[in-house]
Amino acid sequence: MTASLALEIRNLNKAFGGLPVTQDVSMSIRPGERHLIIGPNGAGKTTLFNQVTGDLKPNSGQIKLFGTDVTRFAPHRRAHAGLSRTYQIITLFAHDTLEHNVSLALLGLRRTRWQMWRPLSRYDELAAEARRTLDRVGLLHLANHPVSDIAYGEKRRVELAMALVQQPKVLLLDEPLAGLSNTERSTVKALIASIPRETAVVMIEHDMDTALDLAETVTLLNYGRVIVDGPRDAVIADERTREVYLGP
Ligand SMILES: Nc1ncnc2c1ncn2[C@@H]1O[C@H](COP(=O)(O)OP(=O)(O)OP(=O)(O)O)[C@@H](O)[C@H]1O
Ligand SMILES: [Mg+2]
Repeated sequence: MTASLALEIRNLNKAFGGLPVTQDVSMSIRPGERHLIIGPNGAGKTTLFNQVTGDLKPNSGQIKLFGTDVTRFAPHRRAHAGLSRTYQIITLFAHDTLEHNVSLALLGLRRTRWQMWRPLSRYDELAAEARRTLDRVGLLHLANHPVSDIAYGEKRRVELAMALVQQPKVLLLDEPLAGLSNTERSTVKALIASIPRETAVVMIEHDMDTALDLAETVTLLNYGRVIVDGPRDAVIADERTREVYLGP
């Protein structure tokens, strides 16, 4: 049962200065699932992602990737196990080209995986893969431009390319649509919809009009706790969802 899950989160607790931020959060994601995490500002959504990736250590609880307990794994070991993410805040190297940013994302993964001994002359190979992924997100024409030259919406797509180039089995997207224009929103939405089913996608998003279309299952967090969790339509129809968003 457990091994058939892509990601399993059990009773995660995290507090900052004694203030609980995730409280007994549990969640199961099947391979290929499209899962949406919603909840008001400060609900603990990003903090949850940070624990799943290993950027933050939980105070207690367990995280399993394809049946392997990764709770004590460093972030790069989780990446090797097939986990990638994008951040809510842009984390690109602004003075580097798009191609180089995406190549580095791939190099970081490969170097620690099995190519530590290989010379960097393999850069051509990495660059070719980076360019293929940039093409996939519609940015090949900007591959040789520095990130600082491109628009905000394009930067968000570069981040997506950096995650996709790693061919993750579980992809965590933290507000991929935030701050985008309507046109950019539909581009990114289509892009997310085109991610192959080999990848499970877990997305935090406030723009429910767009995100609900992509989601099969939804978890609602509030004050660090899971309030409702289940199939999309059941979560939307749930009275507790309405209460969190509209008040009792
Ligand atoms: N490193 C930290 N140190 C102290 N408090 C933190 C830290 N990171 C997050 N918090 C606090 O934890 C709470 C939850 O933050 P988090 O970023 O997880 O919320 P979120 O659900 O992602 O919100 P948003 O929708 O605004 O992105 C907030 O009150 C935040 O101030
Ligand atoms: Mg957040």
